[in-house]
This record gives sequence, C-alpha cells and structure tokens, in this order.
Amino acid sequence: RKFNVAVVGATGAVGEELFRVLADYDFPINKLIPLASSRSAGSKIEYKNKEITVLELTETCFEENDIEIAFFSAGGSVSEKFAKFAVEAGAVVIDNTSHFRMDPKVPLVVPEVNPEDIKLWRESGIIANPNCSTIQMVMSLKPLDELYGIKRIDVSTYQAVSGAGKTGMEELVKQMQAFFNFKLDEAEVKAFPHQIALNVIPQIDVATDNGFTKEEMKMIKETQKIMHKEMQIAATCVRVPVLRSHSESITVTFNDGVDVDLEKVKDVLNNFENVEVIDDLANKKYPMPIIATDTDITYVGRIRKDIYASNMIHYFNVADQVRVGAATNAVRIALKWADLENDI
Ligand code: A2P
Repeated sequence: RKFNVAVVGATGAVGEELFRVLADYDFPINKLIPLASSRSAGSKIEYKNKEITVLELTETCFEENDIEIAFFSAGGSVSEKFAKFAVEAGAVVIDNTSHFRMDPKVPLVVPEVNPEDIKLWRESGIIANPNCSTIQMVMSLKPLDELYGIKRIDVSTYQAVSGAGKTGMEELVKQMQAFFNFKLDEAEVKAFPHQIALNVIPQIDVATDNGFTKEEMKMIKETQKIMHKEMQIAATCVRVPVLRSHSESITVTFNDGVDVDLEKVKDVLNNFENVEVIDDLANKKYPMPIIATDTDITYVGRIRKDIYASNMIHYFNVADQVRVGAATNAVRIALKWADLENDI
C-alpha cells in the first residue's frame, strides 16, 4: 500500500534531507505534499529528480490532501499548534521536535532500539523522534546494556552547527568568510550564544535550574525513556565549528562486578543494526564527522577499558545527525509504522 505523505518544514535542513531519505528508501508514496510557512509557499523542492511545489501549512491542509503520514520538522511551536490538525485528519504524526517527546502518551522511538513502542501511537496519534544526540548515543548503548547491564553513562558531545538548522550553518560559513577578510569581529552572532567560528561553546539550548542545559537534560530524560531504564546519566553538550555530524565521547560504567571483555564489546557493537566499529588507533582509524556525513550509520571507535575500573569503558561515537539523528530515524519509524498498518 502507498501512503499520502506531508513534510512540514519542507524547506529546512531536516525537511530537505527527508526528501532525500524517502527517495533512498523508496518509501511507498502515493502523494507527497511539502509544507512550510507562507514565506516559502510556491517555492519548489526536489524529489526523485522531480520538482514539487511547496504549499502553505494551514489548519485544513492535512484533511484537504488526505494525509496519512505527517513528518514535522519546523520547530516545537509549529508542532504544538499544528500537529493536532494532522491527527484529527487521521494521520500519524512523526514529530522531530522536542515538543511531545516526554509526553507519557507519546512513544519516543529509535527503531533499532525500541521498535515495540511504535504500536502505542494510537493513543495520541503521534510518534516522537528523539533528540539527535540521544539517537546516536542509544544506538551504541542498547547492545552494551544487553551485554553487561549499564549502571551509569557520562557523555560529552561535539555538536555540529547544522543542529541549529540552516541558519546555524550559514552563521559558521559567514563568520569564516569574515575571518578571511580580517572582519571576524564584525560578523553577526545570532544562531548561537557566542561566535562559533574558531571557538567551542559549552552551551546548547537554555539553562535549567540544576545547572545542566535543556539539551543535556533532553539527553538524560530521553535516553531513560527509550531504554525503559533509570540509569544514571550526566551530559555536557558542546557546539563545535563542524558543519555536519555530531561526535560524542562516552564513558559507560557497567553493573558492579562486571569485568569487561573488549572483544565482546566490539562484537556486539559491530553486530548491532546500523552500527559500525572503526577502531584501529595505531593506523589512525577512528570515527570522525567527515566519515559519517551523508551516511545512515552510527560509527563507534577508540573503544578502551578504563585504567582503574574493570567495569568501565570509554569510546567515541559519531553519526550524521541530520540523517541518523533526524531524517533517517523518522523514515525508519514510518517504515515500521507502515508495516504495522499493512498487517492490520
Ligand atoms: P520557511 O522556509 O517557510 O521559513 P531550519 O530548521 O533549517 O531552520 O528550517 C525550519 C523549517 O520550518 C523551514 O522549512 C521553515 O519554513 C519551517 N517553518 C518555520 N516556521 C514555520 C511556520 N510558522 N509555519 C510553517 N513552517 C515553518
């Protein structure tokens, strides 16, 4: 069966990638409706070498177009206001924003990790796509938790500017151009709290009361929800001047008494769906953003045992967060959802 599909935020960084991923996976589409604000209604997007006109997002557009699957990537406030109209029109909403993620009625899904939660979609009509940093982290945590049982996670991220959408990428590029013109001090600082060119910023999203940022709290709460487990987690989220693909330095503490066998760790990671180990430090081989970009794989490397604690490992985790962390995860959710629908 083929589906009528809408993409809200069709002109954004994730929206544009969604069209590429839908084409790559040959998603069963009957009708494809790109939606954005009135600013870009009438412009064109490309899908399978054809141009499709962008329509304005309205309260009635889902019903008028018989939409069955609606991908939302236009920011939390747009999802807050418009997701209900898609649900009322009978569509499943696959939401990329943080708006519904912690709602107990809304399943939060990474298909490789907790596919069983997709079937809970009927309660709200919505399936939430986790935060990009969370998705690539749980991809490696799941097989490790199955192997030894995870007690605690400590993670620091190195997040690309595309996490802040197209404006984030443009800001880095413009600041670099200004730098080469000896005018960096005059360049605009708007998408991030400080200049991002030639800098790193240890703040993503706003502050919360406990000293962690909202992005860090998302990684903590979302990981616990997806893994169905209240493990201890501390996160430090950092923006770096990389255009695309997030990196994460992760320390995992397993249950007391575990004596880690690194070969087993590498084995379970390599055998997990859509995870690949690149781990040969002597030959300078490890995951990096330039390797992960434009792929659907979460790369893991620099895997090593702690020097002091036998139940602790450290590793580096990299994925294209626009694909693995957003568009590809959303499409993989939709494919599994469609399988369920086809079975009924
Ligand atoms: P538009 O091009 O009309 O502004 P990014 O994450 O790369 O910044 O992209 C955000 C996406 O969300 C764009 O497609 C943008 O469309 C869309 N968008 C932002 N605000 C709205 C809104 N109020 N209604 C519909 N679409 C919106």
